[in-house]
Amino acid sequence: MTNSQTVDIAALATASLHLITDMQHDSGAYPASPTFSAYRGYSWFRDGAFIADAASSAGASASAHAFFDWCARVVLANQDRILRIVEAEANGAPLPDGEMLPTRFTLDGEPGADDWWDFQLDGYGTWIWALAAHETRVGGDGSAWSEAVALCVDYLCATWSRPCFDWWEEHSEQQHISTWGCVAAGLKAASGLASLDDDRRHLAASTARAIEARIRTHGVFEGRLVKWVGEQRVDASLASLFGPIGLFSGDDALCQPTLRRIEEELTVNSGVHRFVGDRFYGGGRWPLLSCMLGLAWHAAGDDQRAAELLEWAASAVTQDGFLPEQVDGHLFHPDDRSEWLERWGTVATPLLWSHAMLVRLAVELGVEVAK
Ligand code: BGC
Repeated sequence: MTNSQTVDIAALATASLHLITDMQHDSGAYPASPTFSAYRGYSWFRDGAFIADAASSAGASASAHAFFDWCARVVLANQDRILRIVEAEANGAPLPDGEMLPTRFTLDGEPGADDWWDFQLDGYGTWIWALAAHETRVGGDGSAWSEAVALCVDYLCATWSRPCFDWWEEHSEQQHISTWGCVAAGLKAASGLASLDDDRRHLAASTARAIEARIRTHGVFEGRLVKWVGEQRVDASLASLFGPIGLFSGDDALCQPTLRRIEEELTVNSGVHRFVGDRFYGGGRWPLLSCMLGLAWHAAGDDQRAAELLEWAASAVTQDGFLPEQVDGHLFHPDDRSEWLERWGTVATPLLWSHAMLVRLAVELGVEVAK
């Protein structure tokens, strides 16, 4: 259900920023959703990178910095594993998916004991992109995290073309275009970090170029980006590559056709679904994706559409001031909802990533967000 009352967006964005910093763990990790059964106690590189980017964009630098520190500690603690993975790839004997880096860790940075759809590469690119964007804002050179970034560059350059789970932790057999985009964006950002050694910067730059070229040849159908190699439909996560990530600029020929397709295929009254056929909790609309699409339209120069999308995302706020992961009202598979409600309980609320994207889009549209 969405809120029919007009929401005060500046107040909600300010409250959202405070919710994020209040819920950040002492370790620097951002819990994905502190109360939701399946996410409790865990922090994702993907969610966290976008949350840190939002915090940084709103001036909460210390919070973003603490999250990047947490990521760097996690990466360094996994150094031996990364070296083994990179060496195995170089020897032409890749390790199995189960030995790759997980997508989420406990708030203390441990792997955790619960099974998960773990092999996902996007978050390791997105955190480098986010920390580089942060450093650009504050005038840093990335030196606080260069050792961990170097390891991630080696990891991503060695593994980027492997099929893996996507943003939605599904279809590990596919090569996902938004995953490739996040990896390319991270490598491109690493190549610009003055604190990284020259060899790594060159490796990162050339691999980013190769991925971008592969996206343009294998990740496009009729002039727009597609969900995975060989697919014709879109996935809403693709919007992020135009804004906020900006791997492709708002005037790239891919931008308008991709965004228009996300509007046609996935958007109902400014609420954005993940992908056609989504069954998770019946497949509702995600406030964070309305904000991603808004950021992409902003990059493309359409602030009016971006503002409408922001307004819809804000209307998803609950009486308690929380933004959920998704809202019902329009479901792709209504019959599947009860199965998830029984399995994991009510939809994750609050989802820190939802709050973060609202903050990020509000900042971009010039809304005053008080620290
Ligand atoms: C989503 C992921 C997200 C995770 C934690 C999952 O249901 O598919 O994209 O990272 O929740 O928020």
